[in-house]
Amino acid sequence: MGQFVIFQTFEFVLFHNFPLSPVSIHLNCNQAMQTDIDACRAAVAAAKQVAVITGAGVSKESGIPTFRGKEGYWKENRPEDLATPAAFAANPKLVHEWYSHRRTVCHQAEPNAAHRAIAALEKQKAQFLLITQNVDGLHKRAGSRRLVEVHGNIFRGRCTACSYTVDVNLEPEPAIALQCPACAANVRPDIVWFGESYHPADLQTCYQFLHHTDLVIVSGTSGVVQIPLHLTQVARERGARVIDVNPDNTAVSELADWHLAGPAGEILPQLV
Ligand code: APR
Repeated sequence: MGQFVIFQTFEFVLFHNFPLSPVSIHLNCNQAMQTDIDACRAAVAAAKQVAVITGAGVSKESGIPTFRGKEGYWKENRPEDLATPAAFAANPKLVHEWYSHRRTVCHQAEPNAAHRAIAALEKQKAQFLLITQNVDGLHKRAGSRRLVEVHGNIFRGRCTACSYTVDVNLEPEPAIALQCPACAANVRPDIVWFGESYHPADLQTCYQFLHHTDLVIVSGTSGVVQIPLHLTQVARERGARVIDVNPDNTAVSELADWHLAGPAGEILPQLV
């Protein structure tokens, strides 16, 4: 009998009175995460007007490096050498080489489950806008159509003199014309670089939509470049709820109603 009591007490301590056991923490985290995912799925289903804002993390599971973080592009390279108008003026060859390399990586990559989930969500909602900082074209390849590529597209070039735009030839391998077919001036990647302004028409489209949005899903952005944070704030001030999907905690997570801490390719398909 005495032994029985001790056994009971031991069981109670192990499974009920010892909340710091790694096993129970893991279970509790999973349960909390599942509860949040369920709540977010309900919020997505109920929302009439949805905006999705994406950054480099959404393409990470397609094999495209992000910019910041351990293996990010800005670990090995300096933005001021490669992604500013001054860098291009000083060394256009170097800048073109870097973008050629990245273009090949993007061309070889395939859209992942996160891109597909976002494209599926667009089909469910009459009022929908995707705002992406990504220049890799993977959202379009996954089927997204109502989107604004606020940082441009790596498969497009733009004349430095007359602003004529040229599409990159993809065969036999991605290559960009270095001189404008219209005026023969230098062509640069059609990307919004550091120190440059966003296209006013793009920003207007975003603001107009976000003023009436009831739900914003943000994923894969550190928020270090401020546009996603700012646009999320604008929507939030107008009453939108915010979901952030990112394995890390960021300034966007701090603002969000829900932070789903996991990879976009695993979490986003569970919300649509
Ligand atoms: N799913 C979701 N998010 C992820 C994943 C993943 N699988 N993997 C990483 N992330 C998150 C990281 O935790 C990080 O917060 O993606 C974010 C990537 O951050 P950045 O590299 O800073 O990318 P981004 O915010 O898009 O950068 C903005 O900076 O240099 C520029 O012009 C470039 O558009 C880019 C801008």
